Amino acid sequence: MYVCLCKAVTDSEIREAVEDGAVHVEHLAARSGLGTGCGRCQELAQQLIDEHLAADLSFAAA
Ligand code: FES
Repeated sequence: MYVCLCKAVTDSEIREAVEDGAVHVEHLAARSGLGTGCGRCQELAQQLIDEHLAADLSFAAA
């Protein structure tokens, strides 16, 4: 699904970015331009980053 319509960034690309070390929406901006248009996607993108990081941590702790 597209998270950032302005820059055509998907949730899959966000997950890949997190796996490459992104922890903040600004990292996505630098990588893909996400959030550099209207900015309305930033909150959802950060939420997806946080969820993916939390899932990774719970997996690592298991
Ligand atoms: S939807 Fe991402 S900058 Fe507009």
